[in-house]
Amino acid sequence: MQPSQPERIFASLTIGAVTVETPLFVAPLAGITDRTFRRICRRNGAGMVITEMVAAEALVRNHPKTWNLARFEQDERPVGVQLFSHDPAVLGEAARRVAELEPDVIDLNFGCPVKKVVRRGAGAGFLEDLGRLSAAVREVVKASSIPVTVKLRSGPASDRINAVEAARRSEDAGAAAVVLHARTTSQFFRGRADWKVIAEVKQAIRIPVIGNGDVARPEDAQRLWDETGCDGIMIGRGALGHPWMFAACAAALQQCPYYPPNAEEKWAVIAEHYQMMLADKGDKVGLLEMRKHLGWYSKGLPGAVQYRAQVVRLNDPQDVLTTSKEFFLKSKLAEAGSD
Ligand SMILES: Cc1cc2nc3c(=O)[nH]c(=O)nc-3n(C[C@H](O)[C@H](O)[C@H](O)COP(=O)(O)O)c2cc1C
Repeated sequence: MQPSQPERIFASLTIGAVTVETPLFVAPLAGITDRTFRRICRRNGAGMVITEMVAAEALVRNHPKTWNLARFEQDERPVGVQLFSHDPAVLGEAARRVAELEPDVIDLNFGCPVKKVVRRGAGAGFLEDLGRLSAAVREVVKASSIPVTVKLRSGPASDRINAVEAARRSEDAGAAAVVLHARTTSQFFRGRADWKVIAEVKQAIRIPVIGNGDVARPEDAQRLWDETGCDGIMIGRGALGHPWMFAACAAALQQCPYYPPNAEEKWAVIAEHYQMMLADKGDKVGLLEMRKHLGWYSKGLPGAVQYRAQVVRLNDPQDVLTTSKEFFLKSKLAEAGSD
């Protein structure tokens, strides 16, 4: 009989000189995980956030909207800015410039599966050319003293799993941590994430490994932690409409009691999200963006379909707030909404 393994303690994680007190990360989701959502997640238990992907070429050309994507608030810290390009030299130059913002980490996107992107060699296209991947990490490491992390997928396809090799090369080139989304490029976002690859990568390198893919409930986080030996967990879609997921996962992993928020407490978070979003993006854009989040917050609650239909017809921010407050508070059943 095998001696039983001592239970691993869910504790803080160090990336370069950065300490992440609770190693639960908000995944970058382009068009979704903006400053406001990231701050809301940090206030509800997330330990670190990464910006959505920022195009390195446009950053170097000083495109104002792109710089706006890279900016973050001080209360998001620790925060990583994620860069994206096919060209190691451009990534290096963008890193040099973005270092002015003093992010805690610069993250490289080696996982975007969009065909147009991969064909150019950017995102998951790097997994087809590990020599260029090493060169990109080296350029970015050289560009500043800020720790560099990489976000990988398992490999280009199920018959070409190469995350272990990509992670080793990243470590050799100076990366301070690896995030692994355990799907292949050809899987896109379909099918299941194969966490075995996370365990293999963890065995193969010394720098921290953050596991990602399909954590939708605290039990998933616990299983990912136990099955892979990973040092941190990144959550994307599972936090949409559930920013308190992070607190729930932290409690499960720290074996602490967890008291899910009731309808009033949830509404307080939603209202705060709403107000911060409008303050950051203005009424018009803020309202458009917020509709998506209100849709996620309302998912599964009684009357959600009618509520969403009502909200898309409203253009006055105060009307949306009043209608939403009524909807989210009206039913005690809302308290039964999942966490
Ligand atoms: C709409 C959407 C946008 C995404 N944008 C990014 C991105 O900008 N950068 C990145 O590295 N990954 C991006 N991803 C991948 C996520 O960060 C994450 O790896 C993936 O969703 C799996 O994690 P999850 O199952 O917890 O959502 C995106 C995923 C989705 C669904």
